[in-house]
Amino acid sequence: MLVEPLLRPAREVPAFTLVELTAHMRRLLAERGEPLAPAWPEIAAERLRTGELDGWVAEEAGRPVALVLFSRREHRAYGHLHVEAKEARVPLSRRLTLHALHHMDPAILRADLGTTGLSEVEDRELGGALTQTPGFEVVERHGLLRTLQLDEPPRTPELPPGYEFLPISAAPLDALDALDRRAFRGGADESLVADSPEGNRRVLERILSGELGRFLPEASAAVARGEELVAFLLTTEESARAGVFADLAVDPAHRRRGIAGALLQQGLRALLALGYGSARLWVTASNTPARELYRRVGFERERTAFIFRWRKPR
Ligand SMILES: CC(C)(COP(=O)(O)OP(=O)(O)OC[C@H]1O[C@@H](n2cnc3c(N)ncnc32)[C@H](O)[C@@H]1OP(=O)(O)O)[C@@H](O)C(=O)NCCC(=O)NCCS
Repeated sequence: MLVEPLLRPAREVPAFTLVELTAHMRRLLAERGEPLAPAWPEIAAERLRTGELDGWVAEEAGRPVALVLFSRREHRAYGHLHVEAKEARVPLSRRLTLHALHHMDPAILRADLGTTGLSEVEDRELGGALTQTPGFEVVERHGLLRTLQLDEPPRTPELPPGYEFLPISAAPLDALDALDRRAFRGGADESLVADSPEGNRRVLERILSGELGRFLPEASAAVARGEELVAFLLTTEESARAGVFADLAVDPAHRRRGIAGALLQQGLRALLALGYGSARLWVTASNTPARELYRRVGFERERTAFIFRWRKPR
């Protein structure tokens, strides 16, 4: 007889069991270029125990086989589903996700959920299953890779006349933040990372402070025309071998002039000079301008991940 896995609140699950799950989850995230701090598994387990993070664990014959966790910020929740079950993985994922949302603070109006442990095919199936529930949509994201070789250095970047590169340290946080919001407004990624001005600024601060991987000012840059900041590229370290383009923004009034292309060439050359063997980044599948830009500078798709987005039906 098939016994349905038992769903338990994570705060009732022993810390060492939670750490097994969160450590595996962290490893899978790191493997696909989304590093978390080394101490994250223990910190997350502790926060699950205290209820600071919402979480549910699925158990099969007393063994933990999946975890879903959410952090809350105002009316929004950011979650992650990690699956280790051997069988019926997609139905279990759907059940665990819906169960967690059902038990979440009613003040939460919106939740974004990533996954680890599922194959691309299973993720797509899960997307199909979840979107049958009102309020769900699936955001497909592509992890891109560009390898770097000394005998084939990236092109020398060329900006259009009147524009100049500035070191990223010359661009104040306020100006980066304002430009970032201007650039993403109305586009495919508008609310992917942050949906409030404070949230956007916080993400930039996290990138610049190295919280999301060591910040690489040498491989980051800004572009100005006169006094006006018109574009920037922020680059972090993923590992000793790879850099990550964490944010790229060009002011809408200055697009299609080759500025983003030049920034990327500049970033790639700097990464190569610093000894990195590749550059990685994530792009939303529906962001056609960015995908076309990255294809032009030699990035190729390495992996696909999904964000399951839920908005509370009114
Ligand atoms: C994506 C973005 C950075 C491109 O900036 P840009 O300075 O206009 O890009 P470039 O002028 O260097 O474009 C280089 C090439 O990319 C492609 N491209 C750029 N914008 C495009 C668009 N709207 N549609 C189709 N292709 C486009 C083209 O191949 C272009 O070459 P071409 O102009 O000779 O045809 C800019 O649109 C932007 O800031 N978007 C919002 C933020 C964002 O999505 N950032 C990336 C997140 S991963």
